[in-house]
Amino acid sequence: MSSNFASTAYTAAPFIGKTFGVTVNKLSKKFGRTTVLRDISLEVKAGEIFCIMGPSGSGKSVLLKHIVGLERPTSGDVKIGEFDASDPATRDKVHLALVFQAGALFNSLSVYDNLALYPREHRLCNESGIRDRVMNALTILSLEKAVKKFPSELSGGMKKRVAIARALVMEPQLLLYDEPTSELDPVMSATIIEIIATLREQTAVTTIVVTHDRALAFSIADRLAIIMDGRICAIGTPAEVKQSKDPAITNFLNPVIDLKNPRFKQLENNHE
Ligand SMILES: Nc1ncnc2c1ncn2[C@@H]1O[C@H](COP(=O)(O)OP(=O)(O)OP(=O)(O)O)[C@@H](O)[C@H]1O
Ligand SMILES: [Mg+2]
Repeated sequence: MSSNFASTAYTAAPFIGKTFGVTVNKLSKKFGRTTVLRDISLEVKAGEIFCIMGPSGSGKSVLLKHIVGLERPTSGDVKIGEFDASDPATRDKVHLALVFQAGALFNSLSVYDNLALYPREHRLCNESGIRDRVMNALTILSLEKAVKKFPSELSGGMKKRVAIARALVMEPQLLLYDEPTSELDPVMSATIIEIIATLREQTAVTTIVVTHDRALAFSIADRLAIIMDGRICAIGTPAEVKQSKDPAITNFLNPVIDLKNPRFKQLENNHE
């Protein structure tokens, strides 16, 4: 790895290529005897920002794992464009990148080497091409100065940005984020939201975001779905979903803090 990073001007121009829509068709998933996803159908159009919301444990990450082919459906299917998401050959046809909930950076590798790992392992290009990709991705996210740092030296917000930069190195045609703003302060959350929206704006990449963050979903989603207990219970534009009269949806989006009748007491009762 060359240390002469500063001398080259990087263009900060994100990759622009073909992008793919996603179709989830009657997807159900059981782990043993537990059903986690129940008959989920939805379509994410090419170029859209689509948010998946829902309470903890409702099945959002499991749904995301089916889209990236890390889980196989019990029944139903998921298509990326015309390709079956659970077919390993689809990975050769579609560049997809998932920004994991916890970042999933390798602590023993520098930021540069974290970003270079995938193109090196898949021999996508020679070392100078890899350097261009890595530095371009870091420049897009204003992370040039972090190139030699290790994950333990980064703040939470920087780790999230490095994880996004690592996804960009794959020149994704489908970009997925799992909880990109979790554990961030409101300003850093806003920064990440701006990054997600700007990347879609500049590349038109289809973007799927799993999030609890109402500010994120309601500011940048073209459409969103709310999943509860493995089922879709609302889907539409942010304005359409906000108008829902379903008490479960309104309680999820605007929970009232009720100290006279606290929820944890109800949880306790349910288990008794
Ligand atoms: N590999 C697995 N084996 C068994 N059960 C699993 C597995 N993966 C997930 N689950 C279960 O599926 C349910 C949904 O999990 P999932 O991770 O999708 O929730 P989530 O909606 O992403 O929650 P959170 O908002 O907390 O991230 C949980 O009850 C979880 O325990
Ligand atoms: Mg999750």
